[in-house]
Amino acid sequence: MTPAPLKFASPLLDEATIAAAGDVLRSGHITSGIWVERFEAALSAHCGGRPVRVLTSATAAVEVALQLCGIGPGDEVITCGQSFFTVLNMIVKVGATPVFVDCDLVTRNVELGRVAARIGPRTRAIVPTHWPGSLVDLDALYALAGHYGLRVIEDAALVIGSHWQGRPVGALGDLVTFSFHPNKNMTTIEGGAIVCSDAEEAHRIEVLRFHGIERRDDGTRDVAFPGGKFNLPDVNARIGIAQLERLPGFLTHRRMLVERYFDRFVTNPACVLPPRPVDGDGQSWNMFCILLPLERMTISRKDFRDALGARGIATGISYEALHLSTLGRRFGYHRGDLPNTERISDSTVTLPLHAGMNPEDVDRVCDACADVLARHGSPGNSTTR
Ligand SMILES: Cc1ncc(COP(=O)(O)O)c(C=O)c1O
Repeated sequence: MTPAPLKFASPLLDEATIAAAGDVLRSGHITSGIWVERFEAALSAHCGGRPVRVLTSATAAVEVALQLCGIGPGDEVITCGQSFFTVLNMIVKVGATPVFVDCDLVTRNVELGRVAARIGPRTRAIVPTHWPGSLVDLDALYALAGHYGLRVIEDAALVIGSHWQGRPVGALGDLVTFSFHPNKNMTTIEGGAIVCSDAEEAHRIEVLRFHGIERRDDGTRDVAFPGGKFNLPDVNARIGIAQLERLPGFLTHRRMLVERYFDRFVTNPACVLPPRPVDGDGQSWNMFCILLPLERMTISRKDFRDALGARGIATGISYEALHLSTLGRRFGYHRGDLPNTERISDSTVTLPLHAGMNPEDVDRVCDACADVLARHGSPGNSTTR
């Protein structure tokens, strides 16, 4: 019998959550209201009491965070070539210039040691993306940003539930953005959030996410800045509250699956695996990405993915090099500028990982990878760090 298809990501929504969302739908108030306030309070509690405001996506959150920092035409923003299109797009959308730095080949986090050389008089902010399994070094990041007087927008789309020295991501630092897309550690269907530093910033986010509208004392409204329309509806916020309650359980299950991947993943020739966690439970695992040893394979990445697909195993690519996208190249970037980013972009494959999987699903993926590589490669061993 052919086993059921295995998605590479999938949300877990239980009947209680669906019923709770139904209650909101029946309540007559379905757009932003009391449930948004409650969701923001719950997220704030998760982030050590810092203010949190929710939006319709992490992409909206990054755009609003850049606007909150006053970043626009003439400004430069340092980011990493190995991330999702959101960071490039939003930097360009607000009128600023992206300045790309390479990443570490294994952690995929921005190489902080290379950032200082790219800071110039027009640099306003650093926007690093945290990768599952190993966060950007926050001590080094904030020492650098403090030294040069730069804002930081941590793209934490992939890592809600990860910890830095015992504190959850979002509980420290400058601006931190989360995603609640269905592929992430928890979902609101679509949705995102910004963690900020004080009530004034939180109010400014409220204005920026809702048309830029400010209320005057006489009851009329005004706009001084063309704000977006990024308010999260209550139905989504209600789902988010239920998901946040289940987040610890989701993360424990994901960690168990990742441990299984590390225990079982032996391919021949060798794939580069993510960094194996050393602190047991400090990191959340949104994705498990490998690097194929293409130079020792007789098939392409597409063939490899098709071979897994033929066995009912879905895979993804996380991510294409931002500086080599058509938009990125507009800023003068070429192949060869960011070697690690490019190697990842060319050879990465995202394997299935979600809270609905069981250990046997991981075994199935590992067996399939080993089999396909054994047929189409030459000898070697898996490498981890
Ligand atoms: C690293 C990263 N940042 C930002 C985003 C944007 O998230 P959203 O879909 O909520 O806009 C994504 C989405 O996949 C992502 O992977």
